Amino acid sequence: MPMLNILTYPDNFLRQPTKPIEDIDGTTQKMIEDMSYTMYESKGAGLAAIQVGFDKSLIIYDVSPSEGGKSLQVLINPRIIESHGRIISENEGCLSVPDLRADVKRAESVLVEGFDREGKPMRIDAEGHLAIVLQHEIDHLNGILFLDYISALKRELYKRRIKKQLRQ
Ligand code: NI
Repeated sequence: MPMLNILTYPDNFLRQPTKPIEDIDGTTQKMIEDMSYTMYESKGAGLAAIQVGFDKSLIIYDVSPSEGGKSLQVLINPRIIESHGRIISENEGCLSVPDLRADVKRAESVLVEGFDREGKPMRIDAEGHLAIVLQHEIDHLNGILFLDYISALKRELYKRRIKKQLRQ
């Protein structure tokens, strides 16, 4: 299985809006397989299709404890229907925003609707860590990165750090 290239900030493709998936066909299944391999190899808790160059409304995640075995979840065309409360997501990170961790304000609970990889409608009532992962991944589908939520100063410092690295 190929390891997909993960796009990183400031790649503009990450800002593209994504298109709904209308047919869960072989191409979609292959995308899921490759994304899953890439996510586990990169030790990420979630991955959105846009991060690996597909402008499709698809996310995968696995929030099971690392010693408990894998439990891959797939959500196609996910939408947040309701959100409640406020929590601080501590030390949030993203495979597309390397070497940055920050505390981010998130909703405490979300109700998400979408479809699984067989096309079955899904409804997920999530709170805590799962709610944070879902918000983070669904943000990707709307061109939003977690660093959009941090202070302008922190973002500017990160931007400079990345530009310097790119020059080297
Ligand atoms: Ni991310």
